[in-house]
Amino acid sequence: MTIDETPRGPSSGGESPGMGRSRTTARDLERYAGLFARRTQGMKSSAMRDMMAITARPEVISLAGGFPDTSTFPPEDLAALMARVAADASARALQYGPTEGLDELKACIVEVMAAEGMDVGADELLVTTGGQQVIDLVCKTLIDPGDVVVAEGPTYPGAVPTFSAYQADVVQIEMDADGMRVELLEETLDQLEREGRTPKFIYTVPTFHNPAGVTMSLERRRRLVRLAAERELLVLEDNPYGLLRYEGDPLPPLYALDGGEYVIYLGTFSKILSPGLRLGWTAAPRPVLEKFNVGKQGADLCSSTFGQLFVVEYFAQRDWRDLLTHLRELYRHRLATLHDALAEHLPQGTEWTRPAGGMFVWATLPDYIDTSDLLARALREHVAFVPGRAAFLDGRGGSSMRLNFAGVGEDDLHEGVRRIGKVVNEQVRLYSTLTGTDPAPSRQPRDAAPVPTQEPGARVLPLRRRAGGER
Ligand SMILES: Cc1ncc(COP(=O)(O)O)c(C=O)c1O
Repeated sequence: MTIDETPRGPSSGGESPGMGRSRTTARDLERYAGLFARRTQGMKSSAMRDMMAITARPEVISLAGGFPDTSTFPPEDLAALMARVAADASARALQYGPTEGLDELKACIVEVMAAEGMDVGADELLVTTGGQQVIDLVCKTLIDPGDVVVAEGPTYPGAVPTFSAYQADVVQIEMDADGMRVELLEETLDQLEREGRTPKFIYTVPTFHNPAGVTMSLERRRRLVRLAAERELLVLEDNPYGLLRYEGDPLPPLYALDGGEYVIYLGTFSKILSPGLRLGWTAAPRPVLEKFNVGKQGADLCSSTFGQLFVVEYFAQRDWRDLLTHLRELYRHRLATLHDALAEHLPQGTEWTRPAGGMFVWATLPDYIDTSDLLARALREHVAFVPGRAAFLDGRGGSSMRLNFAGVGEDDLHEGVRRIGKVVNEQVRLYSTLTGTDPAPSRQPRDAAPVPTQEPGARVLPLRRRAGGER
């Protein structure tokens, strides 16, 4: 089974097995095909969303989703805060709110952004339904079919369905352990200019990248911001993970370096509090923000008033940094466990990134292994990951995978990687039998030299293992 053949969950527009109906067949679709807009032909479903029906099964260890560990939030706190919202602001919580969001929530956002060194005014903010809605609003506002978006390669898999829905022409820039290779970005911009094309925006996750795990160096941040100003290009800085740092010193967000001139900022409460709240925000130049506001009106009128008041109450009654301190400690250990398990169970010729924060490690297997095919075998062993192709729009990433270490306990992390190692080693043995080469030993020393993987003719991410953090 490949990713395209997995049953569709309700969120991806199909029918879930849980709904008691069979999955949509090509024949079913044909009946409606004449009605669908042209843009639907290029629309891609999110790999993680597709897999949710499978990964939700209790026997499956999922390293696939972008899930934080929500069990860390004490249920009694949740109950107490909800009771307070009900007691103090019931009618308001149940009512529509302003599209731009509640002023009290914006005050909380100003505080969160200040914690990362950003100075923003409440009138420069728009509260959104998750950070995901920001990506959608940016595309809705800026992209006509065929317009160029520049992104990292790999890019956030959840942005792929959005870019494809708006028919953007996405150009992906290689990364290394210091994030997007800005010198290649500059070359690409020159090339595009010669073709008479200007990107509508540059999309980047500079800090603890999803899925690559790496962080853009300060030098590259400065260069990127300078480039944006010189060429008058907008940059969308997607920063859900900046506060989840496990080692090293924080780096200034692009938004802080640029002062909000050319950088549009995306923030979210999903990873520092809860994704179930579906609350994020954007900070953007005011004329752009006004367009986003109109775009949001057409999408959902406003984000959940109840959720917003819950966050306001949470900030009033608790120190929001306490949960963050706890999460950092928890995830730091899980990351170490994942690294140990990878060193123990994955074969020679595998490389992986060493993030200093965030939630993801990007592993690249020997290039004859296709992780989309491997996933089918892995699911039979009851373990899941995101295949690398989900992070590219052009089929690259075939031998890579994204592993989430934040939402999985240490025992499951170890067991999950053992199962992945089992199916990978089967593939390695099969390959060596077919080609008559020596099978690789199943354990790679932690300090072994990295083995770059390169797909013929493709610009492939040359991410290497690096000792002691990625900066
Ligand atoms: C890089 C990145 N951007 C945006 C999002 C969307 O998050 P949310 O809509 O939950 O705020 C995620 C979620 O995993 C992410 O990793």
